[in-house]
Parts: sequence; structure tokens; C-alpha cells
Amino acid sequence: MKNPVCWVVLTGISIAFIQQGLPVRSQGESQSDNKQMDNITIRQGETLFLSCSQGDFVTHTAWLNRSSILYAGEDKWSVDPRVSLVTLNQDEFTIKIEDVDLTDEGQYICAVQTSSRPRTTSVHIIVQVPPKIVNLSKDLVVNEGSNVTLMCLANGKPEPAIVWRMISASDDSLSSDNEVLEIPFISRYRAGVYECTAANDIAVDTQTVELTVNFPPSVSDGRDVGVTLGQRGVLLCEADAVPEADFEWYRDDRRIFNGFDGIEIEDDGGLSKLTFFNVSEADYGNYSCVAINKLGSANTSIVLYEIIEPTSSTLLQGPGAVQDGNSGTSTVFTPTCLLLIVLLHLLLKF
Ligand SMILES: *[C@@H]1O[C@H](CO)[C@@H](O)[C@H](O)[C@H]1NC(C)=O
Ligand SMILES: *[C@@H]1O[C@H](CO)[C@@H](O)[C@H](O)[C@H]1NC(C)=O
Ligand SMILES: *[C@@H]1O[C@H](CO)[C@@H](O)[C@H](O)[C@H]1NC(C)=O
Ligand SMILES: *[C@@H]1O[C@H](CO)[C@@H](O)[C@H](O)[C@H]1NC(C)=O
Ligand SMILES: *[C@@H]1O[C@H](CO)[C@@H](O)[C@H](O)[C@H]1NC(C)=O
Ligand SMILES: *[C@@H]1O[C@H](CO)[C@@H](O)[C@H](O)[C@H]1NC(C)=O
Ligand SMILES: *[C@@H]1O[C@H](CO)[C@@H](O)[C@H](O)[C@H]1NC(C)=O
Repeated sequence: MKNPVCWVVLTGISIAFIQQGLPVRSQGESQSDNKQMDNITIRQGETLFLSCSQGDFVTHTAWLNRSSILYAGEDKWSVDPRVSLVTLNQDEFTIKIEDVDLTDEGQYICAVQTSSRPRTTSVHIIVQVPPKIVNLSKDLVVNEGSNVTLMCLANGKPEPAIVWRMISASDDSLSSDNEVLEIPFISRYRAGVYECTAANDIAVDTQTVELTVNFPPSVSDGRDVGVTLGQRGVLLCEADAVPEADFEWYRDDRRIFNGFDGIEIEDDGGLSKLTFFNVSEADYGNYSCVAINKLGSANTSIVLYEIIEPTSSTLLQGPGAVQDGNSGTSTVFTPTCLLLIVLLHLLLKF
């Protein structure tokens, strides 16, 4: 380049004309072309190639970002290390910008000066950014009846649409097309995993929040248990609670502990099991089970009562009586009757 300063001034003037929308042609120059290329949409982080055609008799050529020169011919004016020259020949002038960011958005201009006519090609770069959830509510533990607010904020370009939904819910009653999901007076049935989705044209970001709802225990009504003397007896107590309930067993007012003679107490989640290995006369009575967590307690009572061992006669009679009912009817079947039944079976199969 023989006279860069002069030429830059010249380019500057042409650019000024473009920006004012004045056709350079009206300045008495022979002719000029100002071309607007289609917008280029590119994702953040990608490499952008800017290319414009040259032609014969090109004396000067430059790529500009807004009004600052990136490259003038093969001379790099930009101090940005991401900008580099790809091709410069008779046909094309291509530069690239690596790791494109939002700040690179805007108008880029290729200015070409021939001996007779200046020519510019401008292109608008649009940078897209995949959505990213930047601020999400933490996993939450609340008591039943609280007002719960879940928050999900996301970045991205175009601006992502945010949707909240409860993953475990079969219906869509608990969802929101909003950064904020409000659940007033939360019930235990709305505990679970909630998902925030931030989506735009280019990608989706998804995050989840676990919501735990504490509530005091409720115990299902105890079922009285009948056991024969000397047999094993098991009393069951079932409680629904969050956090999980601790269980206490009482005989009348006396607390019963695991490891008492011939007794075992096993707790497994919401279920407590009191086992008598060998029920004695003294074991029969009224027991109560108390389920406790930090929000409260509930109880139920279970009676362990005696079953008199069936005598040998009742043993024979019991099952025999049932069998009589079956065999009684079967004896009624005559061979013809049986044949009819077999035929009916066959017919029904088809
Ligand atoms: C190019 O992008 C600009 C700025 O976003 C917009 O105003 C213009 O309408 C777009 N042109 C085309 C052809 O999409
Ligand atoms: C383009 O210009 C803008 C505004 O001056 C700047 O922030 C950005 O880094 C420039 N990009 C390149 C590739 O020169
Ligand atoms: C997230 O949002 C909460 C509530 O608006 C705010 O208090 C907090 O500062 C935000 N955190 C970040 C990292 O933006
Ligand atoms: C929950 O919100 C309702 C109004 O929506 C309000 O009346 C109530 O006091 C709130 N409860 C708590 C525990 O903040
Ligand atoms: C149950 O206890 C009785 C009385 O103590 C005893 O005779 C019997 O052998 C015990 N049965 C079993 C299965 O341990
Ligand atoms: C067992 O005891 C509880 C109280 O401890 C009482 O409410 C209940 O009526 C008793 N059940 C029977 C069958 O006595
Ligand atoms: C059992 O529950 C009743 C109410 O349902 C309560 O009045 C009683 O005090 C409870 N008993 C125990 C031992 O917690």
C-alpha cells in the first residue's frame, strides 16, 4: 500500500456516505455499488467467515467492523487476536473472527476501491447464545401449608422462554410459563421434582429442583390380631409422615422396647413391626403404637387376642364342609351332562 493514510480517509468518506444513505454516485463519481448482504446468524463461540468478492483493477480493499478497520488489504489493523486473514486474491477477500461473542454483533463492511468506482458490501451479524439457567432455586424443604416460590432465571439470545413443570405429576396443573412458579399452601401431594426448561431457537437448558414437603404422621387404623397360644404373633403399625416417623410401642401405659424377652421391634420406613416369638397368656392385651416426627405424632391401638386352637373335630369338619360343597355338586353330574359341558367348552374356544 503506497499511501495508506490517504486511502483510509477516502474509505472513511465512502463509509460516511453509506451511513447517511447517500448514494455515492451523486457525488459525481462515475458509479458505485453499495450492497447489503443477507444477515448472518452465528452462535456464540463459533468462527465467523466474512468474505467479499474483489475483481479486476482493485486498488484497495478493507474489512471494517462498524467504522474501524479490521484488515486493509493484507495489513491487519485490528488488535484483536481472534481476527485473521484467510484469503486475499483477485477473486475474494476473506477474514475470519474466531470465538464470536455478543459484542461482535453488528454491521461489517467490505470496502473495495477500484480505479474507477468504490464498492461496499455490508453484512449484519447476529450472534445467538444458547440458553443457560443462571439462577435457580435450591432444593427446598418446607412444611405443609407453606407458600412456595420457585425461581428460574436464564440468559440466552434470543431471549429464552421459561417453563416450569412438576415432573412426577400426571396432570399439567402445576406448571408455569414464567420464571416464577408459585405454589400457595403447598400440600404433601405437591412434593417432588420440578423442572425448569429454558428454550430458544438454538438450544434448551434444563435443571431440576427437589421440593420436600414435611407433614406430621398419620397412622392407619390398627388391625387387631388373633394368635393361638405358643404361636408367633405380629402387630403392624403403618404411618405416613415426612420426615419419616419414629415409632414407639406401648402396652397400656408401659413402653415396650426392642429386645424385651421374646419380643422384637423392627422399623422399616413407614412400617413398624412388633413380633412376639411365642405368645403367652400374659401377652394378650391392648397395645398402642405412636408415630412421631418433628411436626407431631399420631397413634392407634391394636388388640392381641387369643384364638382357641381348633380341636381335632373342628379341623376335620372345617375344610371338609367346604369340600362337600364342591364334591356335592360334582356328583350330580351325569356322564351326559359332562359331555355337554365338554362340548360347550369346545364351542366357546372357537
Ligand atoms: C437484519 O438484522 C437487522 C437487525 O437485527 C434487522 O433490522 C433486519 O431486518 C434484518 N434483515 C433481514 C433481511 O433479516
Ligand atoms: C467490533 O466492534 C465492537 C464495538 O466496538 C467490539 O466490541 C467488537 O469486539 C468488535 N469485533 C471485532 C471482531 O472486531
Ligand atoms: C438469584 O435470584 C435471587 C432472587 O431474585 C437473588 O437474591 C440472587 O442474588 C440471585 N443470584 C444470582 C447469582 O443472580
Ligand atoms: C400464603 O399466602 C397467602 C396469600 O396468598 C397469605 O394469606 C398467607 O398468609 C401466606 N402464608 C404464609 C405462611 O406466608
Ligand atoms: C413357647 O413357650 C411355652 C411356654 O414357655 C413353651 O412350652 C413352648 O415350648 C414355647 N414354644 C416355642 C416354639 O418356643
Ligand atoms: C386400647 O387402649 C386405648 C388407649 O390406650 C383405648 O383408646 C382403646 O379403646 C383400647 N381398646 C380396647 C379394645 O380396649
Ligand atoms: C393418641 O391420640 C389421641 C388423639 O388421636 C391423643 O388424645 C392421645 O393423647 C394419643 N396418645 C398418645 C400416647 O400419644
